Amino acid sequence: MRAAFASRIDDADPLSALTVGERPEPEPAGDDWVTVEVRASSLNHHDLWSLRGVGLTEKQLPMILGCDAAGVAPDGREVVVYPVVPTPSDPRGVTILSEHHQGTLAERVAVPAANLIAKPAALSFADVACLPTAWLTAYRMLTSRGRVAETDAVLVQGAGGGVATAAVVLAVAMGKRVYATSRDPGKRERIAALGATALEPGARLPERVGVVIETVGAATFDHSLKCAGFGARIVVSGATAGHLPQVNLRRVFAMSLEILGTSMGTPDELSALLEFLASTGVRPVVDSVFGFSEVDAAFAKLASGTVFGKIILDHTR
Ligand SMILES: NC(=O)c1ccc[n+]([C@@H]2O[C@H](COP(=O)([O-])OP(=O)(O)OC[C@H]3O[C@@H](n4cnc5c(N)ncnc54)[C@H](OP(=O)(O)O)[C@@H]3O)[C@@H](O)[C@H]2O)c1
Repeated sequence: MRAAFASRIDDADPLSALTVGERPEPEPAGDDWVTVEVRASSLNHHDLWSLRGVGLTEKQLPMILGCDAAGVAPDGREVVVYPVVPTPSDPRGVTILSEHHQGTLAERVAVPAANLIAKPAALSFADVACLPTAWLTAYRMLTSRGRVAETDAVLVQGAGGGVATAAVVLAVAMGKRVYATSRDPGKRERIAALGATALEPGARLPERVGVVIETVGAATFDHSLKCAGFGARIVVSGATAGHLPQVNLRRVFAMSLEILGTSMGTPDELSALLEFLASTGVRPVVDSVFGFSEVDAAFAKLASGTVFGKIILDHTR
């Protein structure tokens, strides 16, 4: 079957490690696994990390990339795939599709039947393909980790990204005052159009916030600490610009800050997110839709850093 996979690891030039070609049909890892016909998938920064060898080693290659998929189950149900799969050999006990089990950037993907969640009729395959990684992560960062219900104001750093645009849109829909930083003036304009107050990185906010959404890391973390109000939660799910920031611990204890790590979300949280979108009319922010035959160009767009929202792959073309 047609697939996009990591054929080698290349930290310096990750796109050169991407191969598009034929791979064997996916192998169910147990009796309770099923094979889904993928209709749409979306790219994540995770796919670039994989090509660079983060979370993936040479001996696991070739590995089909992709965490996110929506498609059709063997019984004809339209489903979205929850990408966190039990993996006893991993210290976490679970892995995300494309880390241990083959990923979603293919005609078909095998997953445990329990990982299938019904696609609400109101949402398209493309819409739900954006949700299982970036949007689920953002939803959990705001809700169970960030306890956003306890505050009126949220700061989102590096707001052009898939997780960050999701956090902006979700927090606005939850009725919060949202501040969002981006390095790019064009992205700041687009963030403002989503209902946030758009700022340059490091800019002073008119108020301190109760929740900070951090996926950038070293480039923004000091600003996140300075913008956090007393008792605020700084929720971290990524560190695109480096994972070793200097942390002013005096600010952490004096302001009673919570710095919380998080990864992905639970199946119940994905169901709640689907319901939230279906009932509110909120839809993912889409940067662009590529046919699967243009997967190289889609990766090049992601790697360019110019993305605003999600890149979707339409597997029907
Ligand atoms: N733990 C999890 O479960 C989980 C899930 C999803 C993602 N992640 C991680 O979260 C991060 C974001 O993922 P994504 O898929 O949303 O990535 P993405 O769509 O590629 O977005 C990355 C964003 O980071 C910002 N950025 C990058 N370099 C920066 C720098 N030097 N200074 C300031 N901002 C910078 C950019 O914002 P601006 O251009 O607007 O400034 C960019 O829009 C990645 O590291 C990813 O691995 C983790």
